[in-house]
Amino acid sequence: MDPGDEQEGHAVAHQVTPMDMPGKILELDGISAESVQAHWGLYEAYCNKYNEVMQKLESADRGAANQIYSDYRGLREMLTFAIGGIKNHEVYFNNLSADGGEPSDQLAEQLQKDLGGVDGFLTELKAAGMAARGWAFLAWDWQWMRLDLHIGDAQNTFPVWNASPIIALDVYEHSYIADFSTARPKYIDAFIRNLDWSSVNEVWAGIQRGHELLGADG
Ligand SMILES: [Fe+2]
Repeated sequence: MDPGDEQEGHAVAHQVTPMDMPGKILELDGISAESVQAHWGLYEAYCNKYNEVMQKLESADRGAANQIYSDYRGLREMLTFAIGGIKNHEVYFNNLSADGGEPSDQLAEQLQKDLGGVDGFLTELKAAGMAARGWAFLAWDWQWMRLDLHIGDAQNTFPVWNASPIIALDVYEHSYIADFSTARPKYIDAFIRNLDWSSVNEVWAGIQRGHELLGADG
């Protein structure tokens, strides 16, 4: 490459494609297909914006990076917003199904240990969903080896290092305004009724396999 080429050394623009829409999310109890489809459109928009930001980052002027304002700062900041918008929604949509189910014995055991059981977890999830301005998560902390709830006020706020989301409850108004007006508690109840525990259990089983591979106990 020409030494004078400004592109030398710049990161390659990684691109994402939206996941396939799970058909199960259009047949929920109390959360309409219309609402879910509109919500899915927002998820796709996050994917598109991520791709756009990554492309723009390729040519952003690294030498002009500045904490007050610079193209590079703006792009890096918005990149985290787009990534959150993608990953948070993918957990959320995978969490939903009218089939319901219940936690696996292994997950129920961990919920008992860390959050006072399934009922204790659901009490916490409802409170976190009411307290959050954007998201409430059940997450596994790989370092501290425990389940806990985290809230997010936007797509990219309050991430906890070394924690993986297992359940993501979207409490932005776009999640419920069409079906429940401003009644967020009714929407949270509907989310809980539609929790796809078989999908959640799969995620939990994957985390357990991960620990086995890492050689950690638990
Ligand atoms: Fe959303």
